[in-house]
Amino acid sequence: MNEYQSIALLRKELEHHNHAYYVLDNPLISDYEFDALLLKLKDLETKNPEYFDANSPSQRVGGSLIEGFESVKHSYPMLSLGNTYSNEDLFDFDKRVKKFINHDYEYICELKYDGVSISLIYENGSLKKAITRGDGSSGDNVISNVRTIKSIPLELFGNYPNKFEIRGEIFLPIAGFNKLNKQRLENNFEPFSNPRNTASGSLKMLNSLEVSKRPLDCYLYHLLGENLPSDNHYDNLQIAKDWGFKIPNETTKCNNINEVTNYIQKWEIERHNLPYEIDGIVIKINNLNTQDKLGFTAKSPRWAISYKFKAEQAKTKLISIDYQVGRTGAITPVANLKPIQLAGTIVKRASLHNADQINRLDIRINDSVFIEKGGEIIPKITSVFLKDRDLFSIPINFIAYCPECNDPLQRIDDDAKHYCLNQLKCPPQIKGRFEHFISKKALNIDGLGPETIDLLFNSNKIKIISDLYLLKYDDLLPLKKDGKKWSSNIITGLENSKKIPFEKVLFGLGIRHVGETVSIILCKNFKNINNLINATYDDLIDVDEIGERIANSIINFFGSISNVNLINDLVNFGLQFSYINQSKSSKLESMNIVISGKFIEYSREELKSIVEEHNGKNISSISKKTTFVLAGENVGPSKLKKAITLGIKVIDINQFLDIIN
Ligand code: IVH
Repeated sequence: MNEYQSIALLRKELEHHNHAYYVLDNPLISDYEFDALLLKLKDLETKNPEYFDANSPSQRVGGSLIEGFESVKHSYPMLSLGNTYSNEDLFDFDKRVKKFINHDYEYICELKYDGVSISLIYENGSLKKAITRGDGSSGDNVISNVRTIKSIPLELFGNYPNKFEIRGEIFLPIAGFNKLNKQRLENNFEPFSNPRNTASGSLKMLNSLEVSKRPLDCYLYHLLGENLPSDNHYDNLQIAKDWGFKIPNETTKCNNINEVTNYIQKWEIERHNLPYEIDGIVIKINNLNTQDKLGFTAKSPRWAISYKFKAEQAKTKLISIDYQVGRTGAITPVANLKPIQLAGTIVKRASLHNADQINRLDIRINDSVFIEKGGEIIPKITSVFLKDRDLFSIPINFIAYCPECNDPLQRIDDDAKHYCLNQLKCPPQIKGRFEHFISKKALNIDGLGPETIDLLFNSNKIKIISDLYLLKYDDLLPLKKDGKKWSSNIITGLENSKKIPFEKVLFGLGIRHVGETVSIILCKNFKNINNLINATYDDLIDVDEIGERIANSIINFFGSISNVNLINDLVNFGLQFSYINQSKSSKLESMNIVISGKFIEYSREELKSIVEEHNGKNISSISKKTTFVLAGENVGPSKLKKAITLGIKVIDINQFLDIIN
């Protein structure tokens, strides 16, 4: 046997033992023997560097530092699931399925792991990419970190398809989480808040050596690709088990929705005995053709749903209330609580949302309160235990002045929040705007983070967003010891941000109520910043999905001369303020289309996307400007009458498809 063959054999042998230990939980050799084999492999690899392989078991310890992750587009979008909370919701789901499918179908019930979803791509049996969910259409390739997770096979066994994708959840088992925290406390580090966030934070680390010290694990629950071995979900997973994957044993077939509710009932109790956290049950249609028939809505599959367990509750004491000032000037009262254990983590704070919530609860300092943790990370206070109330307690008076800049607070229209309107001078608002602007979902400026913003702001280098683009390498250098790399990273990050598309720039401006989705809608409809600045209130609310609240906020934003000046400056610095169209055709160009009624084969969201893909505009109500109404079943008679009176064409789905095809 030559050295290459010895290396190959050792790699195979070690992967086999990894699988036995971490996937099958059935070690075949002692740790000592394993380490001896690994040492032998490492030795041969060092002597023969030409045989390096990133997927070698010797690479599982991590090592190299990387600068960032490559962003990769998902071949199949990574969607989330619709949530249900009761048996009624489940029966409704089953009714919807029945309506679509006129033959028998099976459900598969699975545990809903509380971790981070991951998509693993294999080619010719080797792990090639490990992509996070990201925004659902593209994510980060975190393969260097994923290779350190021993239960994920780097090379497969058996008869697998040449190319496929398998998705699952990376999580931190409870024992591993507790052990990590014990070590952190011993070394005077702040403990991690919960296993889920720790898993998610670990995957984002740029040092895989550090990741390898975190005992992450991974269950796989979704096989995707062109040449899958079976036409049903369950069998595909069982077959993938033979390729080396860790597939959950708790996954169960159910013949009807009543069997599903029994499974849920069982796990509602049993879940407390599991070595990891789950937050519900996932119910999926088994047959893949039936799944295809049911299809997807814009956000989630129609062939699967999640059942969320009820939130856990605990009782504790309210010590004091802090008031936080957000980027938009919104004031959020935050309760400081006597620390208490809840659903595996220690809770010290809870959001109180706004003054109305404080009044509704009639919560007072020193009250005993019940807290609850649902899907969200920050728990909420659900009620006050009045029996414990101190006789002399007094109701809370919401603050009248900004805790940061002392300006009087105001409530705008029917918004439940109080606001500090001192936008230009209130420090957390200014810093918050910068942090939003540079954030990943907006301008994604590498090299800049909240700490750097703090530093630049406190040293008077930046006051308004456009000041960022005036920064010079020589201004930055003196701000930090050994700051050469730091300064040049910032300058490069800023330069690169000039290529970021309009919809992200618009989102980054932080216009109240203009989130990521609204920003995309505005860009598609108005095409460039000048059209948007000049849009009237009526132009804005004419756009489907844009309502009064958003329209007013936009008008208000562009009504301020300082905002318009800021945009002019950003335009001059070369940022993107025109929409680059990635549409399929212009067949619906300058057409205003109203979609009304129900459609059997398409959800309304799907039809709206089709309209947009062909450059059409979705409009919410029929007017003289409407080009045509796309009518499905059960269109209201008043709508039809209006269309006829105004002489607007009404077409059905087939005529519509004819136009675009
Ligand atoms: S199936 C289109 N199965 O829950 C199918 N997801 O809200 C989508 N999750 O993003 C996923 N356990 O991160 C599926 N057994 C399971 C799951 C599961 C946990 C997570 C996953 C997903 C989220 C859905």
